[in-house]
Amino acid sequence: MYVPENVVSNNDLAQVMDTSDEWIRERTGIEERRYATRFEDTTTTMAVEAASIAMKRAGVKANDIDFIIFATLSPDYYFPGCGVLAQRALGITEIGALDIRNQCSGFIYALSVADQFIKTGMYKNILLMASETHSYGLDFSTRGRNVSVIFGDGAGAVVLQPMDAPAAASPGILSTHLHSDGREAEILSMINPGFHAGKFASEKKPAQPDQPFGGLFITRELIEKDDIYPYMDGQAVFKKAILKFPEVIMEALTANGLQPSDINLLIPHQANLRISQMVQHKLKLRDDQVYNNIQKYGNTTAASIPIALCEAWESGKIKDNDLVCLAAFGSGFTWGSALLRW
Ligand code: ACO
Repeated sequence: MYVPENVVSNNDLAQVMDTSDEWIRERTGIEERRYATRFEDTTTTMAVEAASIAMKRAGVKANDIDFIIFATLSPDYYFPGCGVLAQRALGITEIGALDIRNQCSGFIYALSVADQFIKTGMYKNILLMASETHSYGLDFSTRGRNVSVIFGDGAGAVVLQPMDAPAAASPGILSTHLHSDGREAEILSMINPGFHAGKFASEKKPAQPDQPFGGLFITRELIEKDDIYPYMDGQAVFKKAILKFPEVIMEALTANGLQPSDINLLIPHQANLRISQMVQHKLKLRDDQVYNNIQKYGNTTAASIPIALCEAWESGKIKDNDLVCLAAFGSGFTWGSALLRW
């Protein structure tokens, strides 16, 4: 994992918008988050820091990596994706690089894709990075406070390899389970700038441009109206999340003939501490069966699970042969789970 050094407390945010430490802690559990150093850190550079540590720990060099997967909703460029930028920075040449855009579920989706490639024998050393730089693009005025106080910056990375041991006794990914439902895509979204031209929401329709072609991706009007920030209907997201998290965790357990009491550690996507607590309660898990670190980092979207996984492992909370469950829910909506034998 890699998180930038700038620690931003709830009180720091209260200096620039109408919010309070008490409101943020009570509603989200967040105490502080990290923000990228402006003009230095980017989604790619933070991912490369995390990837370098992961590759060292896995004992692989740049030329051993045979596929790259990069999950983010805050890419450095609109295109190309961060996968090739990280590839360039790491000195990895001419292998495939895939970018995944599944927001909070990005890491689970990426893990699932990597797992299929490993299990079919197509690749032997997949580098998976997940990274976010929310702080460069949030609305730090009071109008954006319901979204901006939640998110933080950071990156995580893993290297995936095949194991030689026979399947039954083998550690590794037991199964992954992916879902999505686009019917409420805009409930948690950042649609501008974009190529939609207001097609799905009449109130978002830009004025007719005074030019024969183009002029719709980003307009002066959008900037003047400050309509270029993420939007979230927090309560709708909350309600859906507390349904789908337990559902997809149970799906993974059932698929493997297991039950909640078998989980050694659940690492939920760090959306909101209140969501994690409700999931824990619904599944009747003990405190020591669930790992949360949103208090320190806020919601780092695709990066939150690998950051938490790294911290949990480094602090000895994950031991060999443990059953680890990863689960995420987020914008799209998309959600998923992965069950690992460590
Ligand atoms: N500081 C102070 N007041 C605030 C803030 C803030 N940062 N944000 C909103 N408020 C105010 C609102 O303006 C509103 O004021 P009003 O009653 O005068 O109109 C009041 O607080 C309540 O606003 P709600 O939006 O109804 O607040 P709610 O209790 O729903 O909490 C929250 C908002 C924390 C976003 C909550 O809905 C939530 O946790 N939702 C889940 C969304 C989530 O976790 N998203 C994470 C990203 S998605 C993902 O990763 C799955």
